[in-house]
Amino acid sequence: MGGILKAPFMKELVRTCTTMFRLGWNERNGGNISIIVDEGEAAKYLDTRASLREFDLSFDAAELEGRILAVTRTGSYFRNVKVDPEYNLGLVRIGKGGKSAALLWGFAGGGGPTSELSSHLLSHITRLRQDTRHRVVTHCHATNTLAMTLVHDLDDRSFTRTLWKMMTECIIVFPEGVGVLPWMICGNDEIGRATAEKMKDYRVCVWAQHGVFAAGNSLDEALGLIEAVEKAAQVYIMVMNGTVRNVIKDGELKVLAESFAVNYRKDFLD
Ligand code: 13P
Ligand code: ZN
Repeated sequence: MGGILKAPFMKELVRTCTTMFRLGWNERNGGNISIIVDEGEAAKYLDTRASLREFDLSFDAAELEGRILAVTRTGSYFRNVKVDPEYNLGLVRIGKGGKSAALLWGFAGGGGPTSELSSHLLSHITRLRQDTRHRVVTHCHATNTLAMTLVHDLDDRSFTRTLWKMMTECIIVFPEGVGVLPWMICGNDEIGRATAEKMKDYRVCVWAQHGVFAAGNSLDEALGLIEAVEKAAQVYIMVMNGTVRNVIKDGELKVLAESFAVNYRKDFLD
């Protein structure tokens, strides 16, 4: 065993946290990440049967029983993850019946997983039902996406349409669109259940006046989705007070989606 920080998935997690801080989307302790880790992969680096301590879960994570996840600590500053990964990250195993989680490594000196754990775990459950290769949930406070929720209608269809119309890549990168939740109190099971519900239809869920959640088969894929949404939102914020003459038209989006053979939300186009 060579120390969990040598594991490729841990190196990638540390690198991603640092990147996200530099992008300006993870101010202070903003944002959190969780990754489902293959047991055999984790076992190369640590004893996956050891339990340092346990956390109770207030929601039903039974479908994740036995799964191992790397997750960011509640209160962790992403800019500090690289400096002290053992304090800012943890490796947990979901216990019997999905009612608890055992700490295998990390969260040094106390502390526990992100306050958004219900949104993470319930979204993992939803996405795994759609795609067995699903692995990652990423949350951050992407600036322009957040700003867009202050000035734009918050229904899934109209929010998606605006993003798709800003930039050619969007309908190819997220053909299913994005889900949008109204402002809600964060860090509880209610927003966790609402987020997971959106994840039935989308891999991106925007939280009004807060930020964005994205799911993917890898850290790159989840962050890439956020990058594409955020770029389109940035363009929207830049042009919204001007006279916009040339957005991509519905017919053009249809031809584009069909030429890339993506399964887009047909009912989101006129
Ligand atoms: P945590 O520090 O508990 O992960 O919370 C940060 C956050 O972004 C809450 O939505
Ligand atoms: Zn947040």
